Amino acid sequence: MTTMTDERKKFYITTPIYYVNDKPHIGHAYTTIAADVVARLHRQLGEDVFFLTGTDEHGAKIAASAEKAGKSPQAFVDEISAKYSLTWDQLGIAPDKFIRTTDPEHKDAVKVFLEKLKASGKIYEGEYEGLYCVGHEAFIKESELVNGVCLDHKTKPEKIREQNWFFKLSEYQKILEERISHDDLIIRPPTRKNEVLSFIRQGLEDIAISRPNVKWGIPLPWDKSQTVYVWVEALFNYCSAIGYVSDPENFQRYWPADLQLLGKEIIKFHCIIGPALLLAIKEELPKAIFANGFFTLGGEKISKTVGNIIDPNDWVAKYGSDAVRYFVLREVPFGQDGDVSEEKLKVRYNSDLADGLGNLFSRTTNMIEKYLDGDVGEFVSPPKDLSGASDAFYNLDFSEGLVLIWKEIAWANQLIDKAKPWELVKTDPEKVKELLLNLTALLYDIAKKLAPVLPETAQKIKEILESGDIRKPEPLFKKIS
Ligand code: MSP
Repeated sequence: MTTMTDERKKFYITTPIYYVNDKPHIGHAYTTIAADVVARLHRQLGEDVFFLTGTDEHGAKIAASAEKAGKSPQAFVDEISAKYSLTWDQLGIAPDKFIRTTDPEHKDAVKVFLEKLKASGKIYEGEYEGLYCVGHEAFIKESELVNGVCLDHKTKPEKIREQNWFFKLSEYQKILEERISHDDLIIRPPTRKNEVLSFIRQGLEDIAISRPNVKWGIPLPWDKSQTVYVWVEALFNYCSAIGYVSDPENFQRYWPADLQLLGKEIIKFHCIIGPALLLAIKEELPKAIFANGFFTLGGEKISKTVGNIIDPNDWVAKYGSDAVRYFVLREVPFGQDGDVSEEKLKVRYNSDLADGLGNLFSRTTNMIEKYLDGDVGEFVSPPKDLSGASDAFYNLDFSEGLVLIWKEIAWANQLIDKAKPWELVKTDPEKVKELLLNLTALLYDIAKKLAPVLPETAQKIKEILESGDIRKPEPLFKKIS
């Protein structure tokens, strides 16, 4: 018997796995929406896509949140993880897999990974003294504190002196510098690549990979008195999720990741520690990492610590999932920081979605109903995207891609204003038919290009235009006052 092989190009895309110390906010949604758009775009291109997201559920920070909530860690993480997955569903985000680090499959894979790491000879036992910031789940330098307080989390780190197992990260300085500077591991945008390179060039120190006093974690196979450092375990999710132990064939198919999206604050973990660990166990490095900037509200980073969070579910309930997806990708160029707010969302919703795309669609379909009795006939949409929008999306320049599509929308709306079909129909109905055919073809093409970003709206447009009986469709976006 011969087995069928999948000849399609594979594309493996990941997001960070999010801490389940609290429900998701718009910042988490941002990276995940972007990944969903890229996954949909590559699926549209006929590629064999694997899109992974999930939740990071072990460690001191989660254990403390569970205790504060008066729940067992497992009950607590079950509850919050479910909120993440429900929120992604509400936002039209469709991952191929949602990994939880409390999954047995992940825990088993981490154990195998740790054994390999130990066998690599890059692990040793030692003592560490330092300042640990639970918010960061990382040791933090004295120089990073202001008045003894971590600025990101507004808390005092704990002074810790303990026995740990260490990983010889210092040995990977040269090879990482080489791989990154030669773009074997691509880091984008360029400012982030430079930031990582200059950090590496300052010299890398070995890192502790286990904690003796953190009970909520995966025990080291060779020293059950310690659990593996949560970041080391979390970074391995990208391998465990695709079957590192449970489904080696699948792992072979998808690894290495083609694109990893994450926020700029965690690039050192992903561009230095993660790759060094992979080198130690002789696995390939991800091909590309792209770091998005921060969403701010009134200039301050949106975060659980600051408490200025926006729940994406509230926005979905009011404006619909496509509007939220559109807004986050249109408002701030991907890779930069930018301010978001409900006021800004409302402005974009009314001007771009209701008055722009929505208006073009309703004018065109109303005229088809009125002048052509609902039947526009055979239309041919352009075989190739000449606007450059799809290329921009492919290049992760989402806002630029949307700007280009909205230029087409504005152009088509102006074309209608100028042609005045409501007058022209009296003298030259054939010309009006031709105009409506062209507008339909354009709308169809726009829907195709927009499908990764606005899946629901694109589907509605496509279905109505393909139906051959275009009558009184509902407005795509009702104006909101
Ligand atoms: N659990 C770690 C990641 C482990 S990956 C192996 C973690 N989790 S987190 O819950 O803090 O999520 C961080 C990620 O959420 C950021 O890297 C970014 O992708 C996203 N964002 C969180 N807040 C954000 C903003 N205010 N703005 C943009 N993205 C933000 O770190």
